Amino acid sequence: MNILILGSGGREHTFAWKIAQSDQCKQLYVAPGNSGTAQIATNVAISVTDFEAIKALVLEKRIDMVVVGPEDPLVKGVHDYFLNDEAIKHVSVIGPQKAAAELEGSKEFAKEFLYRHNIPTAAYESFTKDTVEKGYAFLETLQPPYVLKADGLAAGKGVVILNDLEEAKTELKSMLVDAKFGVASTKVVIEEFLDGIELSCFVLTDGKNYKILPTAKDYKRIGEGDTGLNTGGMGAVSPVPFATDEFLEKIENRIVKPTVEGLKNDNLPYVGFIFIGLIKVGDDPKVIEYNVRMGDPETEVVFPRLKNDLVEVLQAMANETLDNIDIEIDDRAATTIMVVSGGYPEAYEKGKEITGVDRITDAIPFHAGAQLKDDKIVTSGGRVIAVTAYGDTYQEAIKKSYQNIEKLHFDKMYYRKDIGFDL
Ligand code: AMP
Ligand code: GLY
Repeated sequence: MNILILGSGGREHTFAWKIAQSDQCKQLYVAPGNSGTAQIATNVAISVTDFEAIKALVLEKRIDMVVVGPEDPLVKGVHDYFLNDEAIKHVSVIGPQKAAAELEGSKEFAKEFLYRHNIPTAAYESFTKDTVEKGYAFLETLQPPYVLKADGLAAGKGVVILNDLEEAKTELKSMLVDAKFGVASTKVVIEEFLDGIELSCFVLTDGKNYKILPTAKDYKRIGEGDTGLNTGGMGAVSPVPFATDEFLEKIENRIVKPTVEGLKNDNLPYVGFIFIGLIKVGDDPKVIEYNVRMGDPETEVVFPRLKNDLVEVLQAMANETLDNIDIEIDDRAATTIMVVSGGYPEAYEKGKEITGVDRITDAIPFHAGAQLKDDKIVTSGGRVIAVTAYGDTYQEAIKKSYQNIEKLHFDKMYYRKDIGFDL
């Protein structure tokens, strides 16, 4: 079959890497792709939200399946767009329909879903410009730190955690009244702070059945010791050592099952990946957030551990036959370290030549913000390359990731040297 992947990050390079290994894949396209996907697929310069251009490409290249990487096209309804068009409705789209994508598109929608289905999560209330005074009063009833979340998509920046009550009130006003995050902060969810260690759980579903992929832990802060600004993710480890079998059973019974059942009962059509952000509070998992896609850089450690033919798995998702698939996982640990542009997640320069990628031997360089220019690889984003390695232990894998990163070079290159420090 011919397959199109939408996206251009390390996640999409990993999808392409895994799909390209399948005998079932004839032609592989990535829109828009990066320098990594260019080596194993055909890049097409189309935006992930230009649905008309995507349709034209699908018809021209006779594409049978579209795998959606990022949330934006899903929240904007790319799956519904295909279903509503006679010419392309036969194409399998991997990613939930718009109504279900609201789990990521609206924090309030997600909280209502969690409450409706009795899935453990932080207590919350939501507020608008008209109820800002009630928001101040609610903050006064809480213990610090205060967690404020813009309801809509805010490019990963919409969550603010503050220790001081007055600062929290000022922030609430700036979000609701001064539209700090634009329309994304028309509503704000204020929630109870959960104290614990975070991990991510990835679920595949065809809308009826589900399969659970390995857990992963992401390192979101730019600085060592989990300090400084939030980023898209600076590294990841899979499996998560503290996720014991007993804990994983709690995740499945209390969170995964009721989530998939809830989607069914609420008529939220879902063929795709559910990324559940969790926090371990004492010995119990609680949900921090849903994402309707795979994580990045978590994909760069989860997919390398998946032994199945990914195309067969994706087909089973599209055909509602996921119950016939046995997920097989590599016992080895996988780690990835993200190499980023100096300055990221604030302003940074682009177009820096990257050298040494070809010298990486016993690790996999998944390209993210990197593009081909003439025959050079140059930086084109904040997160540039994720270097993934395997090991019998996560410590061994991390060591190998770092040894290979030393072969890479570009001006103002930066990476965290402490991934895995807290495990
Ligand atoms: P989110 O975008 O919802 O994942 O939030 C971003 C980050 O904020 C999470 O990865 C957590 O580190 C933190 N966070 C979100 N909600 C809470 C909460 N209720 N308690 C503690 N930390 C939180
Ligand atoms: N690494 C976190 C995310 O993909 O949202």
